[in-house]
Amino acid sequence: MGFLFSSSPPALLLLLLLSLSSQLFLNGLPLAGAADIPLGATLTPSNSSSWTSDNRTFSLRFVPDPDNPSLFLAAVTYSGAIRIWTAVGADNTPAAVDSAASLQLRSDGDLRLTNGSGAVVWQSNTSGKGVTAAFLSETGNLILRNRRRSVWQSFDNSTDTILQTQNFTIGQTLKSGLYSFSLNNTGNLTLTWNDSVSYFNKGFTSSYTANKTLISPVLTLHTNGIVSLSDESLPGSVVIAYSSDYAESAVAMRFVRLDSDGNLRAYSVASGSITATSRWSAVADQCTDFGWCGNMGICSYNDTSPVCGCPSKNFEFVDPSDRRKGCKRRTEIEDCPGNSTMLQMDNTLFLTYPPEISTEQLFVGITACRLNCLLAASCAASTSVDDGSGYCYLKASNFVSGYQSPALPSTSFAKVCAPALPNQPQSG
Ligand SMILES: *[C@@H]1O[C@H](CO)[C@@H](O)[C@H](O)[C@H]1NC(C)=O
Ligand SMILES: *[C@@H]1O[C@H](CO)[C@@H](O)[C@H](O)[C@H]1NC(C)=O
Ligand SMILES: *[C@@H]1O[C@H](CO)[C@@H](O)[C@H](O)[C@H]1NC(C)=O
Ligand SMILES: *[C@@H]1O[C@H](CO)[C@@H](O)[C@H](O)[C@H]1NC(C)=O
Ligand SMILES: *[C@@H]1O[C@H](CO)[C@@H](O)[C@H](O)[C@H]1NC(C)=O
Ligand SMILES: *[C@@H]1O[C@H](CO)[C@@H](O)[C@H](O)[C@H]1NC(C)=O
Ligand SMILES: *[C@@H]1O[C@H](CO)[C@@H](O)[C@H](O)[C@H]1NC(C)=O
Ligand SMILES: *[C@@H]1O[C@H](CO)[C@@H](O)[C@H](O)[C@H]1NC(C)=O
Ligand SMILES: *[C@@H]1O[C@H](CO)[C@@H](O)[C@H](O)[C@H]1NC(C)=O
Ligand SMILES: *[C@@H]1O[C@H](CO)[C@@H](O)[C@H](O)[C@H]1NC(C)=O
Ligand SMILES: *[C@@H]1O[C@H](CO)[C@@H](O)[C@H](O)[C@H]1NC(C)=O
Ligand SMILES: *[C@@H]1O[C@H](CO)[C@@H](O)[C@H](O)[C@H]1NC(C)=O
Repeated sequence: MGFLFSSSPPALLLLLLLSLSSQLFLNGLPLAGAADIPLGATLTPSNSSSWTSDNRTFSLRFVPDPDNPSLFLAAVTYSGAIRIWTAVGADNTPAAVDSAASLQLRSDGDLRLTNGSGAVVWQSNTSGKGVTAAFLSETGNLILRNRRRSVWQSFDNSTDTILQTQNFTIGQTLKSGLYSFSLNNTGNLTLTWNDSVSYFNKGFTSSYTANKTLISPVLTLHTNGIVSLSDESLPGSVVIAYSSDYAESAVAMRFVRLDSDGNLRAYSVASGSITATSRWSAVADQCTDFGWCGNMGICSYNDTSPVCGCPSKNFEFVDPSDRRKGCKRRTEIEDCPGNSTMLQMDNTLFLTYPPEISTEQLFVGITACRLNCLLAASCAASTSVDDGSGYCYLKASNFVSGYQSPALPSTSFAKVCAPALPNQPQSG
């Protein structure tokens, strides 16, 4: 990324001065604007301190953890409320810390989140890299910089959010739990579950789509709500999506976020508001989002929303208070008192995406689809796609994600201990 102050004449002058005399720094002179965060500065949840951008549009602070009000998350927020960057743990979920935690820009240049116990929960890994200050820009970019340039910036280390005007390019990833979003070098937008299942892969629609390898594709959400893709090899930028409120002027801020449900959405925040409204979703049908209902969970729609259930009464929720954690057999197949059998589920599809799709596909009819799975010890479930393709998918992997809808022309089978106990008596 480029130099920090290249467009600002006074800063440029300062830079020139600085490069002439490094002595200045040894004397600990402050570098630039009032917004600079000096080495040694510390934030804590208890005193509600924050580091803000010049106009206070963005701030780095502790915010209450929505999942556990006694814990806190260290985050860059918009208007103090909407998290646009969050310190995350190894599982790519926000690192929740207690009230004795602290976030410190240490004298060695490392920005470090420490839990009350003293455990380091997140760190920027910038110690010994000459970091002299931190700075939160008016566009929401948290920057750790040395005398001349940025050493680390949140725009290059996004968690789950891309802000308006931010350039998201190949090699960068948004992560949220097991889900990730990246750009392919063909310009395709891809959503992946557990680094293995590509449940969404969409090329940009234009005459350049076919097989073209781009040089350095960049995805940008513009302030007018248009999501576009640009690349040196393309004559202009290509529109990926229009937010439903594009070009509307009452919008103060927009961002794209990979939500914890695995969907990528464009949001807008109205002027004066601190709530974000979804204006575009990459995955139109939430039930096609792999793993949303957990292992062996079946996604379906009630009158208004996608909901998670279990395949039959042979199963129970792993966690009845969180149905998205999936289902488990009441009795494991190897412990069946009698024989195992195949539970039949009409209008149900077990989701099958690349790369699985190429290894677990058979060209057989519905009866053979059931029987092949029953007889194969490794097979947990199978789906016969009654869409005219004649395909049967055997699910040998240990993670199965289901979708039930009256409109689905598929019949699925799950291996259970006999007898099969359907949720409702099968019609017909
Ligand atoms: C908050 O606490 C930290 C650590 O004790 C301290 O460095 C900082 O100055 C405090 N901020 C305010 C606003 O009191
Ligand atoms: C900060 O606020 C002032 C006064 O409202 C405005 O003139 C200026 O453009 C703002 N700066 C940025 C970077 O938004
Ligand atoms: C921080 O400590 C609290 C207990 O005080 C614990 O609940 C929390 O999980 C810890 N956070 C991390 C990220 O380890
Ligand atoms: C810092 O380094 C640790 C250990 O290599 C790594 O797990 C962590 O993800 C790094 N943090 C960042 C922000 O890159
Ligand atoms: C974090 O940002 C720095 C520069 O801003 C970049 O060199 C580094 O690769 C980024 N880390 C990750 C994990 O993307
Ligand atoms: C994003 O890329 C465009 C075009 O290259 C550039 O004008 C703009 O400054 C970049 N934005 C950021 C935040 O780097
Ligand atoms: C782009 O997609 C192709 C086909 O799915 C894959 O082989 C390739 O590794 C992807 N490239 C990147 C950079 O993700
Ligand atoms: C995700 O992948 C890892 C490694 O391939 C595997 O060990 C783990 O069980 C997978 N997670 C789930 C929920 O299936
Ligand atoms: C890109 O997406 C299109 C669908 O929009 C798909 O047909 C194509 O195979 C994808 N390309 C890669 C390299 O993944
Ligand atoms: C893409 O490339 C493959 C192999 O190089 C070729 O078989 C296919 O016809 C190409 N597709 C298009 C739309 O050009
Ligand atoms: C549908 O599910 C949603 C989310 O669980 C719930 O809020 C809503 O009340 C349900 N509607 C009906 C008609 O059951
Ligand atoms: C189990 O299946 C075998 C072979 O189909 C059959 O002979 C046997 O009677 C079955 N046992 C029970 C308890 O249903």
